Amino acid sequence: MSKRVLSGVRASGRLHLGNYLGAVSGMIELQNSNEYETFYMVADLHALTTPFDPEQLRVNRREVVRDYLACGLDPSKSVIFEQSDSYHAEFSFYLSSFMTVARMMHLPTYKDKVKQSPENASMALLNYPILMAADILAYKANAVPVGDDQMPHLEIAREIARKLNDAYGLDFPEPEQFKTKGHLVPSLTGMGKMSKSVEGSYILLTDSLDQINSKIAGVPTDSGQGSELPSDGGVNTLFELVDLFLGENKLQECKNAYLSTGLRYGDLKKEISESIYEFLRPIQERRLQISDDEVERVITAGAKVSREIVGSTISQLRVKMGLI
Ligand code: ADP
Ligand code: TRP
Repeated sequence: MSKRVLSGVRASGRLHLGNYLGAVSGMIELQNSNEYETFYMVADLHALTTPFDPEQLRVNRREVVRDYLACGLDPSKSVIFEQSDSYHAEFSFYLSSFMTVARMMHLPTYKDKVKQSPENASMALLNYPILMAADILAYKANAVPVGDDQMPHLEIAREIARKLNDAYGLDFPEPEQFKTKGHLVPSLTGMGKMSKSVEGSYILLTDSLDQINSKIAGVPTDSGQGSELPSDGGVNTLFELVDLFLGENKLQECKNAYLSTGLRYGDLKKEISESIYEFLRPIQERRLQISDDEVERVITAGAKVSREIVGSTISQLRVKMGLI
């Protein structure tokens, strides 16, 4: 059997550059390598782990599929589906019996969310990484293209795989991150990572040149000169974007200027914005061509394949657990 890949993006809004560079670009690379069976889902159940609006969720679920197709996920090569159309929730319940509450409460991703808003720390939130493990293990996936922020969750999937294999002699691979060049895209605010949940931190794949110009113009900078290169803050974000969109030579040029004659941020920011827009333009053009019908067709076909595979993994586990 060929190796498998599974990944997903939470249905909590449109995709941004961080999602593209950290996850979707890896999804495309593995899809096109022809060495893997690739499964790409819309994590709509994961959207229920934080406060949500049902009407908005209905829209977001389809928007993620639209973004996927526009970016180059190809339904003739990959199974594209919505998580809630399959049996992931059932599978995650079985897996939850292998993890302690204490282990789940210690995850940094959970602790951060609890700190931000304790009143929203639901059981679904605590269960988030187990549901993600179910997504991956249901397909016995080997590789998972995700950004670095998902590593603690991937570790849970690996632990559960080991436990299932030890307890029942099963053959779940321990899934590994497929790391892209943009595995950690920093925030435009200069603090932390680019994220949908932090206003002012991201560039959407659908942003216009004007929007990109004004967002990049807002990245905080310094005098443009120093004896050492900054390792965080807005200037570091600009350097990362130069590396990703203008290449290594340009990055070296910027670093040299920073350490000697000084860097002119006005010109550099314009150049970065234009290169990002040039990169996004074909994606935006393709996005306009995708009809609602096409989206429906893709996920209906994807759901069918998904249910077959997940159904079979579930049956295997139910036998081992004494449920069949
Ligand atoms: P967000 O944090 O914006 O809500 P998601 O949690 O939906 O994004 O992430 C979807 C995918 O995109 C995950 O694989 C995640 O690791 C990746 N990702 C999100 N933000 C970044 C980033 N700034 N850099 C690299 N990858 C990212
Ligand atoms: N937790 C991921 C995120 O925040 C989304 C996700 C859900 C996922 N299930 C997954 C990613 C399985 C990779 C594999 O974006």
